[in-house]
Amino acid sequence: MSAIPAVQSAKAPALWPQLRVAMLECVRCTALVRSRSQVVPGAGEIPAAVAFVGLAPGRLGGDRTGIPFSGDRSGELLRRMILRANLPAVFITNVVRCNPRDSRGRNRDPNAREISNCRSHLRAELAFARPRLVVGLGRIAWRELAGRNVPFSPRQPSAIRIGGLCLFSMYHPAYVIRGAYSELAYASDFDRLSDLLRNAAAD
Ligand code: URA
Repeated sequence: MSAIPAVQSAKAPALWPQLRVAMLECVRCTALVRSRSQVVPGAGEIPAAVAFVGLAPGRLGGDRTGIPFSGDRSGELLRRMILRANLPAVFITNVVRCNPRDSRGRNRDPNAREISNCRSHLRAELAFARPRLVVGLGRIAWRELAGRNVPFSPRQPSAIRIGGLCLFSMYHPAYVIRGAYSELAYASDFDRLSDLLRNAAAD
């Protein structure tokens, strides 16, 4: 993914409700149309100060509730961290908007085709939300936002500007839930994000 405002093209929806309907009716991915219970567009404040981009709605979370990062443990942790850091005007979305499942019905990562099929939805959402900062949660989201050439380095996160977006990398909450990164360190990454936003607002 490169620069953001692809939504200004002639075919792009002019209004957020129109964009939501286009996403809710999307049938670009045959496998995902079968596996999903519903499409899960991004949700939150528009305009946003910060947008979080995760991977895909979870089987026990967004696929049930219709809201990204809600109803499962990843969502609970992400939302707790956002509240704790007192982040303003948050928008939350995913690289893909449908729950991908494997043959046993378990969550799987979206494949390259699914990610590419959903790219215009992500671009359009970010163009509508116009966040000052976009946080890629985990390696796949980071790669989608920053491209393959920018290493995913959430242990030394810093804001970088790429294609009109100000990007920040963080671990996916599922990584913290698995115990691979401490919740304390995660909380301090959110504090750093909060400082960045405050400084950006003061500029
Ligand atoms: N829920 C989401 O909406 N996205 C994720 O990446 C994980 C859980």
